[in-house]
Amino acid sequence: MSRSIEKCKAIVEKDKELYAQAGKIPYFPLAVKSGHGAIIEDADGNEYIDMLSSAAVLNTGHAHPKIVEAITTQAKEFVHYIYPYVYHEPLVELAKEIIDITPGNFEKRIIFGLTGSDSNDGMIKFARAYTGRSKIISFIGSYHGSTYGAISLSALNLNMRRKIGPLVPDIHHIHYPDCYRCRLGKKECSCKLECIDELEDAFKHYLAPDEVAAILIEPIAGDAGLIVPPKRYMERLYSICKENGILFVVDEVQQGFGRTGKWFGIENFDIEPDMIVLGKSIASGMPMSAIVGRKEIMESLDSPAHTFTVAANPIACKAAIATLDIIREESLLKNSKVLGEYMKERFREMQKEYEVIGDVRGIGMTVGVDLVKNRETKEKDKDGAAKICYRAWEKGVLVTFVSSNVLRIQPPLVISKEEIDRALDIIEESIREYLSGNISDEVLKEAKGW
Ligand SMILES: Cc1ncc(COP(=O)(O)O)c(C=O)c1O
Repeated sequence: MSRSIEKCKAIVEKDKELYAQAGKIPYFPLAVKSGHGAIIEDADGNEYIDMLSSAAVLNTGHAHPKIVEAITTQAKEFVHYIYPYVYHEPLVELAKEIIDITPGNFEKRIIFGLTGSDSNDGMIKFARAYTGRSKIISFIGSYHGSTYGAISLSALNLNMRRKIGPLVPDIHHIHYPDCYRCRLGKKECSCKLECIDELEDAFKHYLAPDEVAAILIEPIAGDAGLIVPPKRYMERLYSICKENGILFVVDEVQQGFGRTGKWFGIENFDIEPDMIVLGKSIASGMPMSAIVGRKEIMESLDSPAHTFTVAANPIACKAAIATLDIIREESLLKNSKVLGEYMKERFREMQKEYEVIGDVRGIGMTVGVDLVKNRETKEKDKDGAAKICYRAWEKGVLVTFVSSNVLRIQPPLVISKEEIDRALDIIEESIREYLSGNISDEVLKEAKGW
């Protein structure tokens, strides 16, 4: 490991002098200089295989020629004009395309924002306006964003909620169904979905269901640890919503646009949500988010209740149209499914050898590798996750962790099998080096993570 990271370190030092650290989640001192496909180069010229895709943003990989062309061509035409006042073709073209691929055999409308957070805020507005109810239910461990509404929906980390109250009122949190760490000690064979009683109990004792506007759920709980819910749970939750006039809303910001081998994560559960929140990968890294919902919900707010000056930027729209084209032309849904299964199999092979791997789960190219100190107690191995990610970075693989101990495996969907093999070999070496005590505690000062 004789590589130099001097330029990266200098950039990190300057950043610490200038940038408010409330906006940082450090794992390692990596300053990105360029990226192509699934490979990133840092400021010192070191290369990394990207197993993170900029947190599930770069599904089409870095600097995809079609994305670059879409951006540069549109930039030469016009960069932006405030969309609330005027109209442009890239937007209507994109709006039609997204409405066509989002699940739901009903008339829909779309509205654009700039980042997943603002669309989650918008979702609260539409849900309240349409139902005339104020309460929203979301899940413990979830992250929906950093604006006031989105942070109020989230329940991931106290530092995100401390010192800033009062938050948006009338948001309630329940537990996400986590079969690996079932709070009720159930096994698949004995489970009768007792976990949903928490919601039924709330409805009986303190949360009037006829006052609940929406339940917001991720199709895979991303930052909570890449937890895949049982299909039965999703179906039951959906029925409860329908029985009580509650909107069923999914946050697809992390799992959308092919990440799970389908256009949207919720399609793995055969459910048609009333509203869908989109972001991250929608425009391959250009700032864009969206809410798609039933026409009548999206028409429940009057002009100008939800509008942003630089949203629906035509460059971002063109990048988003190119993103959809690439996903189709390069069969990225299939790639995500096939190579995602392959990654899971390889991690499951490792699981047989290394006790530290307690669980391997995921759908498509969202794979979580849950690291534990003890397979019986399932105590989270937080230091292990930080050290393994740090060592993998030193060896040329970009991988991070969520929920303090779960390796987050979300490479660009364009990654090749050879790149995956190389990356997984390095992750395995890093696991071995961690288990043999060869990674110093010093790295824990730097590798903080989620
Ligand atoms: C599921 C989910 N929703 C919303 C967000 C917030 O999106 P953004 O950071 O683009 O505002 C994130 C970001 O990590 C996310 O994972």
